[in-house]
Amino acid sequence: MKNLLSMEYLSNEEILHILARASAFEAGEPSQLARKYNVANLFFEPSTRTKTSFEMAERNVGCTVIPFDAGFSSALKGETMYDTVKTLEMIGLDAVVIRAKEDEYYNELLEGINVAVINAGDGAGQHPSQSLLDLYTIQKEFGKFEGLNITIAGDISHSRVAKSDAIALEHLGANVRFLCPPEWAGDFEAHHDWDDLIEDSDVIMLLRVQHERHKVNKDFSKESYHAQYGLTLEREKQMKDGAIIMHPAPINRGVEIDTTLVECERSRIFEQVRNGVFVRMAIVETLLKGRE
Ligand code: CP
Repeated sequence: MKNLLSMEYLSNEEILHILARASAFEAGEPSQLARKYNVANLFFEPSTRTKTSFEMAERNVGCTVIPFDAGFSSALKGETMYDTVKTLEMIGLDAVVIRAKEDEYYNELLEGINVAVINAGDGAGQHPSQSLLDLYTIQKEFGKFEGLNITIAGDISHSRVAKSDAIALEHLGANVRFLCPPEWAGDFEAHHDWDDLIEDSDVIMLLRVQHERHKVNKDFSKESYHAQYGLTLEREKQMKDGAIIMHPAPINRGVEIDTTLVECERSRIFEQVRNGVFVRMAIVETLLKGRE
């Protein structure tokens, strides 16, 4: 594995290797990297979790993190993504983690770039490190993927998490269902009410309504969205024993989920954040080890 760009390009074997290394890191095993590598995090879109989690992970596996402030970089003077990354390569970087607003921005980095590229989110495209930490959270909970009913609910067409998770979970044998307003289904076949989904779901994964990506604002009040598509207190009571709630966050409390459910017994929302550090350690180690 030279880069991590999209879950489409990962085999089940590569996924399971990363999850196994994440588990080893969680158990306290050290990094297998033979030397110190230089990495930078290029975030051209806002982030709290992914950016800090990658930085923690990079330090944990012994990397030197070179500061890069996307909002104060020469990208603002019109420098291309290719020239930015090639410049960092010449300075001595071994890997870059990139989040950008353009779908598949990484296509211009496929030829002529020798640093490892980790996609931390491309527009409404993919978010592979989030997907891998979601898979790790599910694997820790159920010990398998085969046969699980996983309901992904919310702003499907704008969600890179929905697309990344759906590809991987289906390859691993899970039964993935979508729930959203008809306008937000994109290319997916989606349900538009909870009736056939709430009682047999093993995982309910809620997605943030991404107002910033909507060209035309959907005419939903917070209350009406919550009542129709959100995880309400009443719906949580219908979930089966052992079923869990996930959300990649940030959360719109009271919109996609009742605020009191965010830290309820079923919720793994903050556990996902914790798991993200181990998974990103595994991603960084796997890519850099491939260069040894
Ligand atoms: N889940 C996620 O990508 O969160 P951030 O936007 O805070 O990184």
